[in-house]
Amino acid sequence: MAEQHDESADTLDGTETADGQPFFKSRRAAAVFKHAILAKYVVPFASKTGSTSTGNRVVIVDGYAGAGRYEDGKPGSPALIAEAARNPALKGRIIECHFVEQDAATYRSLRQVLEEVDNGGTLVWEARHGNVAEHLDELLARAVGVPLFLFLDPFGLGLPFDVIVDIFASRPSGQYVPATEVLFRFDANAIRRIRGVLHKDDPSNKGREKTLGALDRAAGGTWWRDEDDPTLDNRQYLEWFEERLLDEITTRAKCAGWTAAVKPREDLQTTYLLVFLTRHRDGMETFGETLSKAQETWRREVFDQAFAAIHGSDQSALIELDPDAIFKRQEADLAEQLQSQIEQNLRALLRDHERFVVRTKYGAVYKGVEGIARITHLRKALKSLHAAGVTTSNQVGDVYAKQVIRAPGAQP
Ligand SMILES: C[S@@+](CC[C@H](N)C(=O)[O-])C[C@H]1O[C@@H](n2cnc3c(N)ncnc32)[C@H](O)[C@@H]1O
Repeated sequence: MAEQHDESADTLDGTETADGQPFFKSRRAAAVFKHAILAKYVVPFASKTGSTSTGNRVVIVDGYAGAGRYEDGKPGSPALIAEAARNPALKGRIIECHFVEQDAATYRSLRQVLEEVDNGGTLVWEARHGNVAEHLDELLARAVGVPLFLFLDPFGLGLPFDVIVDIFASRPSGQYVPATEVLFRFDANAIRRIRGVLHKDDPSNKGREKTLGALDRAAGGTWWRDEDDPTLDNRQYLEWFEERLLDEITTRAKCAGWTAAVKPREDLQTTYLLVFLTRHRDGMETFGETLSKAQETWRREVFDQAFAAIHGSDQSALIELDPDAIFKRQEADLAEQLQSQIEQNLRALLRDHERFVVRTKYGAVYKGVEGIARITHLRKALKSLHAAGVTTSNQVGDVYAKQVIRAPGAQP
């Protein structure tokens, strides 16, 4: 069923390999973000879905696994997944971890890392050498009847859009069926470069159609060029592309999803888009929480890099300036802004509805701060509105699904 398109021209577009440096030397801020997501999401996913699955089994696939760890010892996605699978919170679940890696030397390193993490223990894992597209049918067969989380993290453009749609088509849909979730990376350099080729219309470029076709396959059609507004600069275009891609894929795969534009630093251009797809409301909410926490981890990484760039190894700066305290203050300011935005959103909602459940108005509650704010900010906003008499609901309990947010005077 699966095939991987010929994307050799884009292979080096994965930013981690720019300047020809080996990818697995050390981790950059953009990689910190995706790893924070894995570190924070796999456990709640496996815990929830594995509590009711057949044999308490859960299948996790890392399709572009890499070396397992960086040379500086920091975990790559395989080490993070393996460590999550051994988390005591997952006791009683069987987490089956599958890894695919195409490059022979990287694959050897991957096996070694997995053996070390497992250390003769009880981790259930298999590593496959080769092209993920060729292993996909077999991996999907292994996940029949049980929850599946698939992580696809290629350099450049990865599996074609239609393959991702087919994964969802091959899995059951409905409320009480095993979950299907996919998290994939979409390379932003490839989008910018191929858009450049589109606009150049250079007759001497013999590979033009092939290059444009590569993005057609990754994006699921020619919409990205047919609807391109040439007056948009690359930053604006990418924002449009991100939204449009999510719309296209969630419609075709009949699921819901999140996207995040991941940058090395707030003022720099996007390195890649992360796209998360799920058919479960729980998955959407839990991933929203995860995104918010991963943003915080990313902000800390960027802050630490900036601090180190300014102060180098000057130990006295560490003592005098106390980076922890500075970061904490910045975070507290941000938390206030997030809370204030949610308060505004709740006030607007309460003007139109005398009572509602957050889950049914999730987008409107988090409008403007989606993926940045999370339940802690929502609870604080509710507490403040409760104190101000704007709602009779406080912030305790299951604030997403159970608590009814009421205007004063509304029927209980
Ligand atoms: C971006 S790196 C993976 C990083 C890793 N997921 C992490 O977070 O630590 C992409 C990896 O995919 C491998 N790869 C490239 N094409 C592949 C394919 N078709 N199937 C499987 N692996 C592939 C590359 O050799 C490289 O190690």
